[in-house]
Amino acid sequence: MAWLKKLVGAALILGGAGAAAGWLLSAPVKLDAAALAQLGPGDATKGKRIFYAGGCTSCHAKPGSQGDARLQLVGGLQLKTPFGTFVPPNISQDPKDGIGAWSVEDLANAMLKGVSPSGEHFYPAFPYASYARMKPSGIADLYAFLKTLPAVAGKAPANSLGFPFNIRRGIGLWKRLYLSDQPVVALAGGTRDQVVAGRYLVEGPGHCGECHTPRDFAGGTKKSEWLAGAVAAEGSGIVPNITSGGGLANWSEAEIANYLETGFTPDFDSVGGAMVDVQRNMAELTPEDRAAIAAYLKAVPPHPNGYPARKPAAN
Ligand code: HEC
Ligand code: HEC
Repeated sequence: MAWLKKLVGAALILGGAGAAAGWLLSAPVKLDAAALAQLGPGDATKGKRIFYAGGCTSCHAKPGSQGDARLQLVGGLQLKTPFGTFVPPNISQDPKDGIGAWSVEDLANAMLKGVSPSGEHFYPAFPYASYARMKPSGIADLYAFLKTLPAVAGKAPANSLGFPFNIRRGIGLWKRLYLSDQPVVALAGGTRDQVVAGRYLVEGPGHCGECHTPRDFAGGTKKSEWLAGAVAAEGSGIVPNITSGGGLANWSEAEIANYLETGFTPDFDSVGGAMVDVQRNMAELTPEDRAAIAAYLKAVPPHPNGYPARKPAAN
């Protein structure tokens, strides 16, 4: 994950330069009372939708699981990067090895602020930079759904990151630059409700921009090239441009929604790579949600591709 290297590196450089000031500025910040008051009671049925929109199982299920095993959130996937490996932890309901003992406030602080119950920063390999745009009530719904899933014992291995990437504190400065609960794409008053609903799903739980948007020097997503496509996190391969004027110029809203449901492109190619898991999750949403996502994607301002042009094949 080249982008992760960039972002952790830059956060540490900033942290070092600031020394004492950097230490204060990098302190973890939890949700305030006003935000916590909006959590509400939580509804597991609504939470199931957030769970699939958020793709939790793609990273937290045991690698390679199929069917119901995808609901056993034991962790253990290896997100390999040039400087070490991130391992999504056990987030099943096991009280010791998972998050069964967490309160809804704990989950909200993790997802909206990237802060653990003990007050440490999470690495943004956990895509909370997107989840931060979710409503607190959506977190309470998700919490209620997670409570319906099995407790599975067993700790996933820890991240294995070399020094200095293993210092969590530097992430605080990165958060000051990139953590925001505000929408990315400004929509004019009077925009169709469907587009607004799609914006929420894509920019928040769906975290589509984490893969489909290029990153700047410090590893934040470039909002000026939102969804313009990027070099894949593993450092090779391309994540396509999905703006209206870019990759999706010739796709209708119905074709986008159909791709999310079935995995087939308008040319009858089938979905591949890192999108396979995303599409499987999208298939669990309602037709209305997929149509909303498609309507939003067609409303995103067009951008040229956010990745270098492919070199002509040598032969
Ligand atoms: C792209 C992969 C990815 C996705 C998708 C993802 N996570 Fe994670 N998650 C991680 C990683 C990596 C960590 C560990 C971060 C760290 O070590 O700082 C993590 C950590 C967590 C933690 C902290 C657990 C602990 O014991 O400290 C919780 C809670 C969590 N994720 C919940 C979720 C939920 C709920 C979803 C779906 C809405 C989700 N995650 C989606 C990668 C992911
Ligand atoms: C983990 C990274 C990742 C995430 C997250 C992700 N995508 Fe993708 N997406 C990809 C990759 C890689 C491809 C190329 C798939 C292929 O080669 O078949 C792709 C392809 C697509 C395509 C087809 C574009 C084309 O020209 O073929 C659409 C549409 C799309 N994604 C929409 C979304 C939406 C909507 C979301 C959020 C709900 C999303 N993606 C989240 C990695 C991702």
